[in-house]
Amino acid sequence: MKKCFICQKTIKPFIFLGKQPIANGFLLLNDFKKEYFYNLGAGYCPNCFMVQLTQQVDAQKMFHENYAFYSGTSVLMKDHFKEFAKDVQKKYLNGPKPFVVEIGSNDGIMLQNFSDWHISHLGIEPSSNVAKVAKDKGINTWCEFFNSKLADKIINEYGKVDAILSANTMCQFGDIKTILIGVEKLLKDKGVLIFEDPYIGDILKKTSYDQIYDEHVLYFSALSVQNLAKKYGLELINVEHQEVHGGELRYTLAKGGAYKVSSSVADRIGQEKKHGLNKFGVYKKFRQNVEQTKKDLMELLNKLKKQKKTVIGYAATSKSTTVINYFGITPNLLEYISDTTPIKQGKFSPGMHIPIKPYETFKEKYPDYALLFAWNHGKEIMAKEKEFISSGGKWIVYVPKVKIVK
Ligand code: TYD
Repeated sequence: MKKCFICQKTIKPFIFLGKQPIANGFLLLNDFKKEYFYNLGAGYCPNCFMVQLTQQVDAQKMFHENYAFYSGTSVLMKDHFKEFAKDVQKKYLNGPKPFVVEIGSNDGIMLQNFSDWHISHLGIEPSSNVAKVAKDKGINTWCEFFNSKLADKIINEYGKVDAILSANTMCQFGDIKTILIGVEKLLKDKGVLIFEDPYIGDILKKTSYDQIYDEHVLYFSALSVQNLAKKYGLELINVEHQEVHGGELRYTLAKGGAYKVSSSVADRIGQEKKHGLNKFGVYKKFRQNVEQTKKDLMELLNKLKKQKKTVIGYAATSKSTTVINYFGITPNLLEYISDTTPIKQGKFSPGMHIPIKPYETFKEKYPDYALLFAWNHGKEIMAKEKEFISSGGKWIVYVPKVKIVK
């Protein structure tokens, strides 16, 4: 029986997605034999409502000098983080000498804005390759894992913080206790923690099971974050839905009583209860929807194979690792995956070892079908790939349901 990372009560597993490799573990031929696998599954805590992985992978196995995810690959995400930064500046950086910290600052896509506005900032990023990209751009970055001890070090060096920001990172901490203890210490009396992560409400609604992989340990809701905040002397004061990454929720936390709680919190919690996020039934239904998608997608790929159509994967996302390995999509069904990230190109996909080729390969000779693994960037991608469609190509999407888009 698995215990909840947050409240230690027994969780109820609701989906098992098989033996999986590291989602961002793109590898060379020589590394196939030593590839690491773990059991990927998710469960729901009936006590504190946190949805979570049933097994956590060591952070050092995922975040290191060869970390393959560079935030700056999407133009839309750059705009998104600029808007995020502007909003923080307007609402929370009006005091003298404002200071911002970002947990999981990657290549500096968010902090670049504060740097441009000459606002004092510090990025905490444990993967040295992406941290170096940020440092090279002049963004103040420490290559470290954030925890309560590091918070003391930051206070000693710079003092307390007005805004701690985090995007797609808080969900990576099963041991979120040490993070929130550190956050509480680090914040000024009116300081805020603002973070956004994939929203369990969207995952359930869209059957976007591919958001479940090693790096995403926690799947937040307003219900679970409100409980979590209270445990560490913090209060959830605002929530805001974001369209990016397939649907996220942005949470603002402050010290208890420091701000008036916005009506957005009660509204969102009301909606979550209405949709049954606090009951097990909705999670069981989700599993049934995943099985249907698996059946539909595999039938389609096998049919296209028989018809001798060329099918490739578009974007070697972390999410694609879950889909490919749970469904058993072999290089026989998917010729290659095209991706714009140099560190992934020339390597093979985790687990099923589908070759990763540069974007130019796709442009040079369009396939008949492209399976869109970066469905969350669908609008941006479909807008720039009009030529693929006009030359007869078709997209295969699988979220929320399997369909062909012409
Ligand atoms: P994302 O959905 O952010 O990935 P993840 O599931 O890992 O969070 O997509 C980023 C990946 O998609 C990255 O490997 C680059 C690739 N990509 C392309 O190849 N072309 C594109 O036009 C975009 C937007 C992304």
